[in-house]
Amino acid sequence: MAKLLSLSRAARLAGVSRGELQKRIREEDLKTFEGELTVSLLLQLYPHIDLEADPMLEKVRRIRTEAKPKIHQSDGWMPDPEVLMTRLREFQHVLVQTKSALNSSDALLQETLEDLNAAVDAPEDQLHRNVVACIAKLEKAMQRVERAEDARAALFAKDIMLKIVSASIRLLPSGHEFFLEGNDSILEAGLKAGLYIDYGCSSGNCGACKCKVVSGAVRKLRNHDFVLSAREQEEGYILACSNTAISDLVIEAREADVEEALPHQKIRTIVRKMEPVGDNLALLHVQTPRTQSLRFKAGQSVSITAENGSSAELCIASCPCDGRNLQFLVARSPGDRFSATLFSGSIVKQTLVLEGPAGGFVLRDDSSTPAIFLAKGVGFAPIKSLVEQAITIDNAEALHLIQIGGNPRGSVLDNLCRSWTDSLDNFVYSAPAEDCSSGELVELLKQATKGLHRVDLYMAGPQEWLASVTDESRLRGVDTADWHCQAVG
Ligand code: FES
Repeated sequence: MAKLLSLSRAARLAGVSRGELQKRIREEDLKTFEGELTVSLLLQLYPHIDLEADPMLEKVRRIRTEAKPKIHQSDGWMPDPEVLMTRLREFQHVLVQTKSALNSSDALLQETLEDLNAAVDAPEDQLHRNVVACIAKLEKAMQRVERAEDARAALFAKDIMLKIVSASIRLLPSGHEFFLEGNDSILEAGLKAGLYIDYGCSSGNCGACKCKVVSGAVRKLRNHDFVLSAREQEEGYILACSNTAISDLVIEAREADVEEALPHQKIRTIVRKMEPVGDNLALLHVQTPRTQSLRFKAGQSVSITAENGSSAELCIASCPCDGRNLQFLVARSPGDRFSATLFSGSIVKQTLVLEGPAGGFVLRDDSSTPAIFLAKGVGFAPIKSLVEQAITIDNAEALHLIQIGGNPRGSVLDNLCRSWTDSLDNFVYSAPAEDCSSGELVELLKQATKGLHRVDLYMAGPQEWLASVTDESRLRGVDTADWHCQAVG
């Protein structure tokens, strides 16, 4: 294992989030090396890393199940993946024992060398006696050589296993790092990690995802229509949408660092579902064509035009990691033609034209400080997108979602919010009642931010409500200068 571990890899080995690891490093004022840390430091922070009960096997099982349809028929010489995985686990144990023995032998060699040097430095008449003493000590030490698994060796083996089942990819010049698992393309893995890698068709036609492999090996997943020149191929250019990683990779790839860098798109989509999520609210599911995904940042909106010409500007309620399957939260609004079209009962399978994205209410995705999300009504749409992105990139120390509405019917997608709390250690969900006053809400916020040096606060909902909460906060001495607010509904 390399002496230095990137934060992402170290967090994986320790089984914690990047945010949690960054917090520990900061709290204990530990020294990292340009964002990387040593194995010893990791073991110092997490001496009880569970190196045996490994959740990775479960994860690999899931990946295998999901990837199964894509796997080509075995030609018979490879064992079943389940058998392969069991053998890998056995191999891991052998590796741990061998590496432990090697570590002990290394230490013993070093000690013996020091003893022998000291022995020969002594007066000549003592030389024989000293060497005999050294040999006796060495024999004794050899009996004691640690055969049990040591933590460093177990970490080494765990890292090797991780490398076998997932490749780590680092992007230049940003330094962003993510893992590629299963049969994903480099592009799919980057998008799933919440990154904004440049792409267009996702299917090898446009060339927008062209990137340069600086180190590591890739394998083509499919033939593509876009032609890379002989010179580009020689220089290591590939299409990220059509290649997967065989080993850890470093690649030069273009990324949209600011929302303005995203292309303005116009896409004809199909309505897949209109799912009621309350008396007057529904979650609209639309899908883009296979060769055209929407690129957007969490929290942004698009303008949508229906077949009858009615239109509206709606915040996207889904994660940018899936630019094909998009969600929007829509409210029934009497007298509004677009709303009437959506709630007509015959919107499924109709075409909606999307234009965008637009808006600057986006996540500070480079921030590791705790984040608080505050939503009311359809303001839950951009907040849902931000929360899903925050969970995907796993950067923030802690996430707290406050949705006004009370339970169970007042809050939108209450079960989804509760499932985040259930599955994430660093996630808190509160759902104060619909009639919760601004004063009560500010007190709740104060409680949530108690003891925190800084938080990133995102708030979306009706304009009057936003104004009331921010005014009340200022009155009660809360600094709102850095709050990110979005008026919706
Ligand atoms: S995204 Fe179009 S070729 Fe890869």
